[in-house]
Amino acid sequence: MDQAGSLRRMARGINGKIKAGASYGKLRGLAVASGKGGVGKTNTVANLAYALKREGKRALVFDADMGLGNIHILLGVAPRYNLDNVLSGEKTLDEIILHGPGGIEILPASSGAREFSELTGEEKLALKTELEALGENYDFILFDIGAGISSNVMYFCSAASEIAVITTAEPTAFADAYALIKVLSKNYDTHNFQLIVNNVKTSYEGENVKSRLEKVADRFGLDVRLDFLGHIPTDDSVSRAVRSQRLFIEAYPNSKAAEAIRRIASRLIISREPVESIGWEKALSI
Ligand SMILES: Nc1ncnc2c1ncn2[C@@H]1O[C@H](COP(=O)(O)OP(=O)(O)OP(=O)(O)O)[C@@H](O)[C@H]1O
Ligand SMILES: [Mg+2]
Repeated sequence: MDQAGSLRRMARGINGKIKAGASYGKLRGLAVASGKGGVGKTNTVANLAYALKREGKRALVFDADMGLGNIHILLGVAPRYNLDNVLSGEKTLDEIILHGPGGIEILPASSGAREFSELTGEEKLALKTELEALGENYDFILFDIGAGISSNVMYFCSAASEIAVITTAEPTAFADAYALIKVLSKNYDTHNFQLIVNNVKTSYEGENVKSRLEKVADRFGLDVRLDFLGHIPTDDSVSRAVRSQRLFIEAYPNSKAAEAIRRIASRLIISREPVESIGWEKALSI
């Protein structure tokens, strides 16, 4: 590709959206992030990919939990290659795709050795090019983002065009969700977030968490908009499915959690703008 072409591609998010907002491609990159660990990101991403597939959407799961990725364990599949092989230039992303249960497709994370190391500028650029090439085959890329607010977390949130923050109603998870939103809005100029509330009984309780987050954001002068994508109830089917390394949506399709994920998938499909990406330019400068 000529230099002008490369620069034009640089100015686009992976959904093909030009940062000025002039046009939108079909691919949507959704980062599922939380701040706090253990609140249900990996389960949500994996089951959501399955639900989207059942709705006729092609979804690729990107295990972006650097060094601690475990989506393959959750699904009982053993990756032969992982992101390390892509970062070292040996493989392309499409060559490391793993096929999981229910036909979901997964990009396995880097090995444990990378847990504390940040991606280099070169690696970020290489990943961007790889993702753009892959993107043409999918409707969604779902990024399972690691816990915390490290620079890798920020990079992968930037690589997506949309961010879904997942939290529970517990004060610790709530505080970390708020911290994540705050950093993304103050330091990365990101103002639109989807919200998923896990481990609550009703949608009303989920909406309540959203209102509380909005109030705190307002009180501290953050310019953010939160859209409620849905709640997921506490459900034994989730932990039972995890123990048998299966998707709960496949193993227990009539469970409350499966119902909730299907609802979230439908909402996600119909939700459109405001789609706002930090964009590759910023991602590459992190
Ligand atoms: N709705 C739910 N009902 C019951 N148990 C749940 C639910 N959601 C999550 N869990 C439990 O919480 C555990 C952690 O979930 P998961 O691995 O998806 O979290 P995570 O946010 O990806 O964690 P990490 O930050 O470590 O990557 C699951 O193994 C499961 O046992
Ligand atoms: Mg996880």
